Amino acid sequence: MFVTFEGLDFSGKSTQATILVEKLKQQRHNVVHFLREPGGTTISERIRDLLLDKQNLEMSDAAELLLFSAARAQLVKEVIIPALQRGEIVICDRYYDSTTAYQGYGRGINLDAVKSINRLATAGTDPDITFFVDIPVEEIERRKQKAGMTFDRMESSGRAFYERVLQGYRGIAQSEAHRFFTLDGTAGEKEIAADIWKVVEKKLSVKNQHK
Ligand SMILES: Nc1ncnc2c1ncn2[C@@H]1O[C@H](COP(=O)(O)OP(=O)(O)OP(=O)(O)O)[C@@H](O)[C@H]1O
Ligand SMILES: [Mg+2]
Repeated sequence: MFVTFEGLDFSGKSTQATILVEKLKQQRHNVVHFLREPGGTTISERIRDLLLDKQNLEMSDAAELLLFSAARAQLVKEVIIPALQRGEIVICDRYYDSTTAYQGYGRGINLDAVKSINRLATAGTDPDITFFVDIPVEEIERRKQKAGMTFDRMESSGRAFYERVLQGYRGIAQSEAHRFFTLDGTAGEKEIAADIWKVVEKKLSVKNQHK
């Protein structure tokens, strides 16, 4: 089973992915892989450093798209496909929907080009379930201020950019409704975790019936 988490920076993805991984580890014997993007392999972590480095402000939009996709291609080939083939559970904090939302809708790169690159990078490996943590940009700004955050290169992109990314995510969630579940990111952590667990439990029981 392959589960991904999507949403704006600071929406609560890692919080929820961590809770889900703990719960799966407690309840099942299957191996659970917890991955974050960009990263998860030696090559992908090095690409991550390039992408997030505040020194790299001259990075072109196309270079950004291709670097995220290169990091993903390595992760898919080295970790995700082998794990899924062994019947293990993979939880990924961001995946190719992030590229569609950020580089496609956010940066304005042609969506058909983004789609082709996503296919190439993932060898058509789609998640079974994608949780989209939907939260207004103002709420994100409040959280970031509260946490006294300093921003990395991606996070320094401005309000209008994040609004486009958010609308992009909402559009993707509609067009990919068969695998998307939208969560109210302004709800409490426990409430969100309970919604996630219901969906995952159901998917696991369906998968077990087909064994
Ligand atoms: N449901 C919630 N209600 C209020 N605050 C929350 C909730 N979930 C997470 N937070 C807080 O919001 C902040 C961001 O959470 P988290 O790191 O999980 O987000 P993220 O989406 O993984 O962010 P990033 O994209 O930067 O990795 C943290 O300070 C976390 O404690
Ligand atoms: Mg996170």
